[in-house]
Amino acid sequence: MKTSSIHGMWSSRLAFVLAATGSAVGLGNIWRFPYITSENGGGAFVLIYLGCILLVGLPVMFSEIVIGRRGRMSPVNSLRELSDAVGASRAWMGLGFIGIIAGFLILSFYSVVAGWTLHYGFLYIKELFGAPGITDPDATFGSLLGNAGQLTFWHGVFMLMTVGVVALGVEKGLERAVGILMPMLFILLLILLAYGVSTGHFWDAARFLFQPDWSQVSTGMFVTALGQAFFTLSLGMCAIMTYGAYLPAHVNIPRVGTAVAASDTVVALIAGLAIFPVIIAFGIDPGSGGAGLIFTSLPLAFAQMPFGIFYGALFFLLLSVAAWTSSISLMEPATAYLVEATNLSRKTAALLIALMGWLLGLATVFSFNIWSEVTIGDKNLMGAIEFVATDIMLPVGGLLTALFAGWVLSKTITKEELDDKMPDWAFKAWLWLTRIVTPMLILWVMASILGFL
Ligand code: PFF
Repeated sequence: MKTSSIHGMWSSRLAFVLAATGSAVGLGNIWRFPYITSENGGGAFVLIYLGCILLVGLPVMFSEIVIGRRGRMSPVNSLRELSDAVGASRAWMGLGFIGIIAGFLILSFYSVVAGWTLHYGFLYIKELFGAPGITDPDATFGSLLGNAGQLTFWHGVFMLMTVGVVALGVEKGLERAVGILMPMLFILLLILLAYGVSTGHFWDAARFLFQPDWSQVSTGMFVTALGQAFFTLSLGMCAIMTYGAYLPAHVNIPRVGTAVAASDTVVALIAGLAIFPVIIAFGIDPGSGGAGLIFTSLPLAFAQMPFGIFYGALFFLLLSVAAWTSSISLMEPATAYLVEATNLSRKTAALLIALMGWLLGLATVFSFNIWSEVTIGDKNLMGAIEFVATDIMLPVGGLLTALFAGWVLSKTITKEELDDKMPDWAFKAWLWLTRIVTPMLILWVMASILGFL
């Protein structure tokens, strides 16, 4: 059993929890969760999403960390080593490749959206220094999307920030940054929540988020909720598996896995409870949806709040940081694999991936302007990339991860990794979820995407 990885190790349990929470908490919680909840009509969707976190997300989270820590390499090679160890086919390496490709596709559009947050942070900073403010948020957002040059620039800045950390190695820079910035983001969300309460529409928002209208439920909602559960927890593309490879041997996996999933879920729900009252207070239909939701609604609130410009700057800058700690984990699996598979240095490998991710990201940039007419089915280019990576590849990756951990790895291995201190019933519950419940649920959703149901 290997006790360390060639890529480095987290210095403590806390370091892993912070890094994995940094990976999980990002645009998925504060940008994507509110907007897809809005598009899917609220309550019922949120409950289905929470069910997916519990029944699928948590078991897959444990599985990824187990595989990573046992293999101690990039996902592709961890899967190869473990397959060899238990006499299974090396075809399981394919899961690692699916993960790398999904990560790459997500990185490409994630970096563009993170660029929007950087741009907004910058606009608010300028406003602090007396420049004209965001008086018409719809117009500001519209003109940003229409401006391919500006989008490309901020997408590039964000990609450089990401590659900077990955190239330097994750441990020092990242561990320290996440430890300070994630708590700050959390406090700021609480301030926004307090503002949301003060608008007098908190209960309307809570009702929208939690009161299910089951008559609205469609299979499409299950597809989106499952995709979001994977996306928000950074699962299904071997990112948490890669972070697991750097986890010290003594750390209790169920405990850290649960901490990460719980923090991520709490942040998403607080974001929803902070953002929807504002949306309702300004007379916007909470079901109006759209990827621009937080970029058009929150500026309305900041314009009214005391010190609103300051909070606006802080909010978008911290959201950029949350996106940053996530995008690092999107780039790490591919980088670790390239370092193992070639004799490239970590720096060159990371730069190569960043360059390709940046180029592919131009498809997302152009989907809002010069290629806005191009559609695949009912989706624009960004929508299509987001759908394939998030709603299809992540669940497929998650399915294969669960099957590998549940059926291919021996029970001796999983029990050893999941810690002998875990009560027997809890281990059995994990095994049952991983072997049966998770795969069945994912397969059912996949079948519905393919039109079999
Ligand atoms: N979990 C991140 C978020 O919610 O913003 C996005 C993400 C990061 C997805 C890393 C997948 C991943 F591997």
